[in-house]
Amino acid sequence: MAPGQPTAVQERALKAGVDLERLPRHMAVIMDGNGRWATQNGQHRLVGHREGYLALKRNLQTAQELGIGYLTVYGFSVENWRRPETEVAGLMTLIEEAARTELRGLIENNVRVLVAGRLHELPTSLQEALSDLMESTSQNSGIVFTLAINYGGRAEIVDAVKALIAEGHGASAVTEEAISARLYRPELPEPDLMVRTAGEMRWSNYLLWQSAYTELFVTERAWPDFGEPELFEAVLAYQARYRKFGGL
Ligand code: IPE
Ligand code: IPE
Ligand code: MG
Repeated sequence: MAPGQPTAVQERALKAGVDLERLPRHMAVIMDGNGRWATQNGQHRLVGHREGYLALKRNLQTAQELGIGYLTVYGFSVENWRRPETEVAGLMTLIEEAARTELRGLIENNVRVLVAGRLHELPTSLQEALSDLMESTSQNSGIVFTLAINYGGRAEIVDAVKALIAEGHGASAVTEEAISARLYRPELPEPDLMVRTAGEMRWSNYLLWQSAYTELFVTERAWPDFGEPELFEAVLAYQARYRKFGGL
């Protein structure tokens, strides 16, 4: 817990029964259900993605004020290119616009931004916007916010093994530590809690390596409707788990 006075979010979390001494250090989120949210509200799918962006903005702030150290969200998977071209293009534009719009606020709010994925396959202007975000926030010391974009867990492991081989290593150098050190963001601790919205009980190729011992929380709520009460609910569920890591 942060020293000094509790934040307003921490006060409400305490009332909800959250133990501020046992927060997940790293929370990962599969932000799913934007499309279904839009359909249910009689809107185009891209409207759902825009609402999803606003939800992300709110939840990042809540996580930061609660005292979570790392938030890693799934923004676009390597499989999402299979969607109709208009949706893919709309998502790329939305993410780029968001990256540019949020730059100043993220700097001011002491958020450090990282990205994870096969970035070189993204539109050049989006790559530039993401580099700007990372560079401009690299000195920030608050929450570390990682956007997984054009990300696949299998692709990440393949890329890590390729990096090992490119460095001239042979089979004897292939260890868990060596692979971990060559993931897209080796500086991140492994996630303690994985939240998936909109009810699906699957991983969808997210953080496969890092989630070996991550606790999973699935909520029926679609991502645009995920807010502070749901975040508290996820943390409470996490705090009720007994993590054994293979032991007793
Ligand atoms: C998640 O929402 C956001 C992305 C995959 C970019 P979806 O677009 O998958 O929403 P549903 O699953 O169709 O409802
Ligand atoms: C996972 O959601 C990807 C993101 C949230 C960015 P999907 O909606 O693509 O996953 P599936 O297709 O239901 O497995
Ligand atoms: Mg989905």
